[in-house]
Amino acid sequence: MIVTEIRYFDRKKLTAEIRFYFRVLCVSAVKFFHLAKSPFELVHCRELMSKRPIVVGNWKMHKTALDAVHYVEAITPLLQGVESQIFLAVPFPSITPVAQAARKGGILVGAQNMHDAPEGAFTGEVSGLMLKSAGASFVLLGHSERRALFGESDAFIHRKVLRALQDDLIPILCVGETWEEREEGLTEKVLHRQLSSALAGVALDTPDSAMGSEPRKFQADGRVRYNLMVAYEPVWAIGTGKSATPAMVAEAHAMCRKYAPVPLLYGGSVNGENASQIISQKNVDGVLVGGASLSPQTFAQIAIHCSKKVLS
Ligand code: PGA
Repeated sequence: MIVTEIRYFDRKKLTAEIRFYFRVLCVSAVKFFHLAKSPFELVHCRELMSKRPIVVGNWKMHKTALDAVHYVEAITPLLQGVESQIFLAVPFPSITPVAQAARKGGILVGAQNMHDAPEGAFTGEVSGLMLKSAGASFVLLGHSERRALFGESDAFIHRKVLRALQDDLIPILCVGETWEEREEGLTEKVLHRQLSSALAGVALDTPDSAMGSEPRKFQADGRVRYNLMVAYEPVWAIGTGKSATPAMVAEAHAMCRKYAPVPLLYGGSVNGENASQIISQKNVDGVLVGGASLSPQTFAQIAIHCSKKVLS
């Protein structure tokens, strides 16, 4: 009698266990097929390794989709073992091919612009959701070329920042003064205006996860979550071959850090020669590279220089 009861109990336990493992198996299978169907979600854009310098390439209007894939094939082996986090802001038609080609190398792909509306009659424009579904993880917003050549206002950039966050894209907000503004001593005023208007009402995942301060939101695997980055790009340094001096970079980054406690990048004529000095400045968590990112060899060299900085 006793033996029968024990057997009965064991059988019940066994059935429950089988049911449990069967459920685990089903859930795993569903997850596997879901991920297999949407490969871009394999890398969650917000879970980036902390304390690793960020190196962003901005190709501007360069490279066909085929050129872009060849570039990724050329750069992937050069980046093996390099600690920097690599981002590529590519033209719209290259987003999907680059996202697919870059999956193995861990490179994140993004766009150089987007519209603030979710959809609508805006001929020639692209929405955040479209970028996300094409494979983008981030988007450059407020680049000085967009502000100067396409008349983008602070208010429009602000709306785009809000939309990008809503669409789960990391905005890389670009700010910076003109040479005239610098000469008139207006640098801080301009940076403050651009940052405060673009970030009005934005709930940053930071400040405690900002790279320059001590992050408190570390997860068990050493990852930290943040949702926005700022690139300080003095207008006069973009595409001119004249980057800001290390002292200017440090000063402007300290200003930006006050108003935006998020990862900060420097952009403006970064190249293989000056990258080490720029990244070593306080409050510089990474670089945004235009012209010099077009060559896989030069861009990889910049990434290698930057990877030597241990962010605190
Ligand atoms: P540059 O461009 O490196 O060619 O100066 C930087 C940028 O526009 O983001």
